[in-house]
Amino acid sequence: MSKKPGGTNPRAKKQSSGNKSGRGGRDLKVRVKTAKGRKGSSTRWLQRQLNDPYVAAAKRAGLRSRAAFKLEELDDKFKFLKPNMRIIELGAAPGGWTQVLVSRVGTEKPDSKAKIIAIDLTEMDSLPGAKVVLLDFMDDEAPEIIKKTLGGPADAVLSDMAPKITGHPKTDHLRVMGLVEAAYKFATEVLAPGGCFVSKVFQGGTEQTLLADMKRTFAKVHHAKPPSSRNESAEMFVVAQNYRGGNTD
Ligand SMILES: C[S@@+](CC[C@H](N)C(=O)[O-])C[C@H]1O[C@@H](n2cnc3c(N)ncnc32)[C@H](O)[C@@H]1O
Repeated sequence: MSKKPGGTNPRAKKQSSGNKSGRGGRDLKVRVKTAKGRKGSSTRWLQRQLNDPYVAAAKRAGLRSRAAFKLEELDDKFKFLKPNMRIIELGAAPGGWTQVLVSRVGTEKPDSKAKIIAIDLTEMDSLPGAKVVLLDFMDDEAPEIIKKTLGGPADAVLSDMAPKITGHPKTDHLRVMGLVEAAYKFATEVLAPGGCFVSKVFQGGTEQTLLADMKRTFAKVHHAKPPSSRNESAEMFVVAQNYRGGNTD
């Protein structure tokens, strides 16, 4: 769906203006005053949103989140999305990635065999071409519920899940890794041979033991930070392709 205006990279456009803010190359056009009752962190978030070219580009393109650009950029680089794929998407709300998936695998086409199941623990507006499921993936019954909903093997398991940040680095790291490990374990249970697993991980990439396991079960494993991922964010993504095992139920 490249809805980036004119196919350009909003960050690159900003950087070429020669008027950098020094934080990720974004110009600071809008300053937000601290308001009574608003925390400093909320003010900083609001200011960042108002000055972020990807937020503006997502709005113009009718995308539900700026995160949509990250998936587009990852897929442009690694080419893991194909027509007719059966996809499980974890941590889908508000639905920016889902919009990209619907467009790239073609669930809306009349003869399409593609299927997208978009899961989140927070409510998400419905989206034609995807089945939205309200579910906490960390619930014990979640994997079985998802498998039943899909009704067969998957070609891709994608996760952009992120826990609520506590601000305590060790706790946050453990929570993120808990989600990644659970998503990976689930992927190895549902993927068909040749399938792929894409997940948000954090700085330093995937933990060594998990990475070693991934390299055994997938033919290709890469880490990447797409250009639209904020420089100051510790997030990056693991892209594992060509699953060697295989669920053929
Ligand atoms: C960064 S947002 C996803 C943005 C989405 N990819 C998009 O493009 O709109 C992370 C999401 O992960 C979800 N999440 C976190 N923990 C989860 C869990 N245990 N089960 C399901 N969703 C979870 C959050 O509710 C949140 O909506």
